[in-house]
Amino acid sequence: MDRRAFLVTGTAALTACSVPGAAGTAQVPGTAPTGVVPDWEWVRAQFDLAPDYIHMSSFFLASHPHGVREEIERHRRTIDRNPFLAVHNQSDMPATIAAAAAEYLEGRPEEVALTGSTTMGLALIYHGLPLRAGQEVLTTTHDHYSHHESIRLAAGRAGATVRKIALYDEPAAAAQDEIVDRLRRALRPRTRVVGLTWVHSGTGVKLPLRAVAAALAERNASRPDGDRVLLVVDGVHGFGVEDEAVAAIGLDFFAAGTHKWILGPRGTGVIWGRDGRWADIQPTIPAFQHELSVAWIQNRPPAGPTRATWVTPGGFKAFEHLWALPAAFAFHHQLGRARVAERIHQLNTQCKDGLAAMKHVRLHTPRNPQLSSGLVCFEVDSMTPEAAVARLLQRRVVASAAPYATSFIRLAPSLVNSPADVDTALAAVRSLAPG
Ligand SMILES: Cc1ncc(COP(=O)(O)O)c(C=O)c1O
Repeated sequence: MDRRAFLVTGTAALTACSVPGAAGTAQVPGTAPTGVVPDWEWVRAQFDLAPDYIHMSSFFLASHPHGVREEIERHRRTIDRNPFLAVHNQSDMPATIAAAAAEYLEGRPEEVALTGSTTMGLALIYHGLPLRAGQEVLTTTHDHYSHHESIRLAAGRAGATVRKIALYDEPAAAAQDEIVDRLRRALRPRTRVVGLTWVHSGTGVKLPLRAVAAALAERNASRPDGDRVLLVVDGVHGFGVEDEAVAAIGLDFFAAGTHKWILGPRGTGVIWGRDGRWADIQPTIPAFQHELSVAWIQNRPPAGPTRATWVTPGGFKAFEHLWALPAAFAFHHQLGRARVAERIHQLNTQCKDGLAAMKHVRLHTPRNPQLSSGLVCFEVDSMTPEAAVARLLQRRVVASAAPYATSFIRLAPSLVNSPADVDTALAAVRSLAPG
């Protein structure tokens, strides 16, 4: 492959030739027959999950639903038959994928970059931000390793400082006004970025992002544009659960893997960035973009400000996975964002109600659906989270222990579960009662 062909692959069409049997333009497979509103049993049947387990950790990594599996397989066959031409013939795929993501989050395709995970998205944002020595990134004690480390590494390079605050002391008692107030009071003149997580995977608390964004907008009104406080959110555990138009929340950047609640191919993710904010980002990994490769060939810097596509990492990928991502958004589209949110919240409420009634259990996730989402965190008296998780697994309930300094047991009822599954999981937790 010549060097120009290598660089433009995946974006600009090199040739218009097609391979017999090669995938054509983006084709999203049907899920349920058109016009049929799928019921939850049908939804559950789309997964190849082992039926002898109660799967309560699906937030960790998606099992691909049928439509996504089929799409991966279709693309894999095409690539295996003729890798070179299959990839060239899909040069419009990144735009198609960005359009599918944009439709789901109610933004514009030009606002979406494609990544491989939440971790990659966060790293690309923080390393790309125009942080300077003397500026500060304000974050919280509730965020994931990937978020804190992205901040630490980027701030270290820039000579910026990092400060972590708690937005609540007891997760079960978290309150919107207090969260917003603590954040507002923590802002300092040198705070340039606020890094938050939509749904905390250590406690199950969901942040009131709209209220937070409004408070920051108020503060930013008196700041010059180059000095605005930017709001960066790790959205992975709300994305695919909540009925929220992410692009309308008031964030600057939002990173999420699409291989958890979105049920997309493993190794996929997105960054959404508000219009105008992408110009602030210095790309970290060379993007395989036509205009960038042309600039390189002409030995000049690329013309114009950074755009989202310049932040999508280049390099060859597991294309069959990447290209199958629209099928996951189609699955959600068919189910409807509001119905998905209602179903997941119902199952989680059932789970929390059941746990709250057990004397040997301390529930840490708020009961209020405004402040919680698809994760339920709790403790069992006189038992470490790891021991409890092991005991639940003996009863074929797949729970997890949160990887945080203070660790709780997590159950995450999702679209792969039924109310009967939740009852079975609750019975297993009940059996952990001492004596
Ligand atoms: C809050 C949060 N952010 C980020 C991650 C990492 O996600 P990814 O595997 O998509 O990088 C996790 C892992 O589950 C998480 O809980």
